[in-house]
Amino acid sequence: MRKVLIVTASRQQLPLIRRAKELGLKVVATDRDPNAVGFSSADVAEVVETLNWEAVLEVACRHQVSAVLTEQTDVAVPTVARVADAMGLPGIGADVALAASNKFQMRSRCLAAGLPMPQFRMCGNIEEAERAARDIGFPVIVKPTDSQASRGVTKVFVAARLEAAVTSAMAHSHSGTVMIEELMLGVESSVEAFVDGDHITTLAICDKTKCAPPYSYDIRLVYPGRFSRGTLDELQRTNEEVIRAVGIRMGITHGEYIVTERGVRLIEVAARGCGARVATDLLPAMTGADILGARILQVLGEPAPLEVRRHLAGVLDFIVLPPGRATHIDGLDAANAVPGVVGVELAVREGQSWGDVRSADGRHGYILAVGETVEAAMQAVSAARARLQIELAPDA
Ligand SMILES: Nc1ncnc2c1ncn2[C@@H]1O[C@H](COP(=O)(O)OP(=O)(O)O)[C@@H](O)[C@H]1O
Ligand SMILES: [Mg+2]
Repeated sequence: MRKVLIVTASRQQLPLIRRAKELGLKVVATDRDPNAVGFSSADVAEVVETLNWEAVLEVACRHQVSAVLTEQTDVAVPTVARVADAMGLPGIGADVALAASNKFQMRSRCLAAGLPMPQFRMCGNIEEAERAARDIGFPVIVKPTDSQASRGVTKVFVAARLEAAVTSAMAHSHSGTVMIEELMLGVESSVEAFVDGDHITTLAICDKTKCAPPYSYDIRLVYPGRFSRGTLDELQRTNEEVIRAVGIRMGITHGEYIVTERGVRLIEVAARGCGARVATDLLPAMTGADILGARILQVLGEPAPLEVRRHLAGVLDFIVLPPGRATHIDGLDAANAVPGVVGVELAVREGQSWGDVRSADGRHGYILAVGETVEAAMQAVSAARARLQIELAPDA
């Protein structure tokens, strides 16, 4: 029986673990957390720090795995690539993995390939950041060079707020550097794709509703994005150019863009699928394509045909509650049972309290739904939301 190594075993990896087992593979999973939810579905659980790629390599060698992969999380992408390189297994390559998870390298590669980019600088301290912001001109956006989920990302409109933003970005930066970028204006979009060598299949394109500044997390994603045909074509073309410029030759990708007055501009691209179960659940429901199956066959070095069978509309709607404490929660099963609903996740428990939401991590849950039209998918979301009972008390 062939074995695959899945790096990290959080809840988001469950669909991948399950699909691998359905394909008759034995699953070895690693995670730093001994209580990781995915361990219960894996055949073998190994507690290893994800960033320690040599320790993950040791696990891979000991179990003689035929493939190594991850999904949904950027942290594991460089580790997976290094382990694959070291074992001579299919992977995106360590240098590409780094470029796909480091915003400075990513933009530098795209710039070198002739793609228009917003102004950007990488800075190691507040003085450098002040100089960069002065050169670029306010407003700017400050973010860690290598994090995700909008952690430590702040839009800065006046110089007086820069230092706090840099401190917050530094706190989430693995490399100890931050990016200062020109703040682009426009509607945001993400382009979900599957890459197989030269061949790029665009699975879906959304428009996004964002939270209010100065934070930058998503409130809602609507597929297909409500853009003109010309803009949708430009998003698809730009995404293909970005994937080639960064050098990603396999796997699921998640590209984020802003449709500015001057055209489509890159925010970032990830060498993994869109989180919040979009790549693992929503896109398969919208397209009928076995995305995870193709991904697994691909890392095994086998042909990975991806057949898009339909084009349903899809919505990812985040639940963001006002500050307070949950006194009563009910209706999760009823919400999940609404026709068209692909999944409902709640990240809060009864008795839990919280403050203002500042990053994607702080959101309180989400609803995924599909429909023949965007309106039908939105109706399913509303029906699910109506069945969720979340009673709040102001937290004293
Ligand atoms: N240069 C920019 N101009 C305008 N908005 C930006 C820019 N860069 C990032 N953002 C906003 O901040 C969010 C988070 O930034 P991103 O680079 O995607 O970091 P993360 O890895 O945390 O998702 C983006 O989704 C977008 O809304
Ligand atoms: Mg992002």
